[in-house]
Amino acid sequence: MASERKRTALKSRPGVRPGESVRVLISRARVRQRVRQMARQIRRDFPHDTLHLVGVLKGSVLFLADLARELGGEVSFDFLSVSSYGKGTNSTGEVKLIKDLDVGIEGRTVLVVEDILDTGLTLKYLLRLFEERQPKHLRVVVLLDKSERRVADVRADYTGFTIPNEFVVGYGLDYDERYRNLADVCILQFAQHGSGKK
Ligand code: IMP
Repeated sequence: MASERKRTALKSRPGVRPGESVRVLISRARVRQRVRQMARQIRRDFPHDTLHLVGVLKGSVLFLADLARELGGEVSFDFLSVSSYGKGTNSTGEVKLIKDLDVGIEGRTVLVVEDILDTGLTLKYLLRLFEERQPKHLRVVVLLDKSERRVADVRADYTGFTIPNEFVVGYGLDYDERYRNLADVCILQFAQHGSGKK
């Protein structure tokens, strides 16, 4: 029984390296419930439209996949990629388009799906880019909002959770490309150097 519990704990915390630790901030159950609520609200707002989900790679992939399955009616997806944090936990503030959308968005009801809204610089850049392409509606859905960190004057139309100013991983979010496969949204912490522990 105890070893079964241990196995489950290990399984739910893949790839944690020495010197790093993760602590659950939002459990997978709460995420699932909130994603369902958000999907219902979005569908109520656009009952008859084909919803064109535009995911920002790669952090939004798991959120987009779950949201898409909760949205009834017609849904299509596309993805784009912008420069991100790279290896660190701080934004450079510079946004570059690395991969554009495959299809045009003119006349479509577009939902930009983001994992997390931090400084807001990425979203500001994307909204400016997409508005020029004349969608029928342009809305923003984010799972997490670190509102304390906002620099750009942008806001999401649908927000899953407002969170404190902590670096989070899991449910698609990474640190140096790791931890995306954690099922919960977790706070990543680093051990202090020189604690004497080996
Ligand atoms: P913004 O342009 O500062 O709003 O940053 C948005 C992007 O930064 C997100 O799409 C994430 O890729 C990344 N990011 C911001 N905060 C975190 C975090 O706590 N964990 C992982 N990635 C983050």
